[in-house]
Amino acid sequence: MKTLIAYSTLTGNTKKVCEAAAKAFENVEVLEVNEVKNLDYDLIIVGTWIDKGTADTKAKKFIESLSNQKTAFIFTLGAYPDSKHAQDCIEAITKLFEQNNNKVLGHYHCQGAIDPKLIQMMKTKFSPDHPHGPNPERIKRWEDASKHPDELDLQNAYNYFKELKIDY
Ligand SMILES: Cc1cc2nc3c(=O)[nH]c(=O)nc-3n(C[C@H](O)[C@H](O)[C@H](O)COP(=O)(O)O)c2cc1C
Repeated sequence: MKTLIAYSTLTGNTKKVCEAAAKAFENVEVLEVNEVKNLDYDLIIVGTWIDKGTADTKAKKFIESLSNQKTAFIFTLGAYPDSKHAQDCIEAITKLFEQNNNKVLGHYHCQGAIDPKLIQMMKTKFSPDHPHGPNPERIKRWEDASKHPDELDLQNAYNYFKELKIDY
């Protein structure tokens, strides 16, 4: 029963969550998507950060290279985990897997700190009424995101995969 956790990360959030999830498995390899050499695993979990409402380009390419696999996914995002945006991400990523006949057994996500350079850009480039501009609600969300993933997110990732029923 071999599990692969293949992740893509820009600033380390997704890697952290994937490493926490990995502790739930006995025989597991955790690799960046571009380090994956073969797909000879019983379960393949893909970790991705959210870029424009779906998996980032590297993770997306990797997901598209999978077919007829048992899979699951992990993502981190700047939006709140219980938002409609997070739900839309789940749907978009599930579709990516399912279009090549992969079976999605589960998924886990949590908020992840947004790259301060991106926040700076949004603060300087956009006015508060722009869809990505610095209005009070958005500034609060950026600040909330900056504290994640926290210890509870990592514990929850571990618990989620420990309890996931996988019929190998
Ligand atoms: C270029 C860029 C685009 C992003 N797009 C979204 C997005 O559409 N929705 C969202 O909720 N978060 C978005 N984020 C936030 C990241 O998904 C989030 O901070 C994530 O935790 C980063 O993970 P990483 O540290 O593994 O790279 C974006 C971040 C960047 C840098």
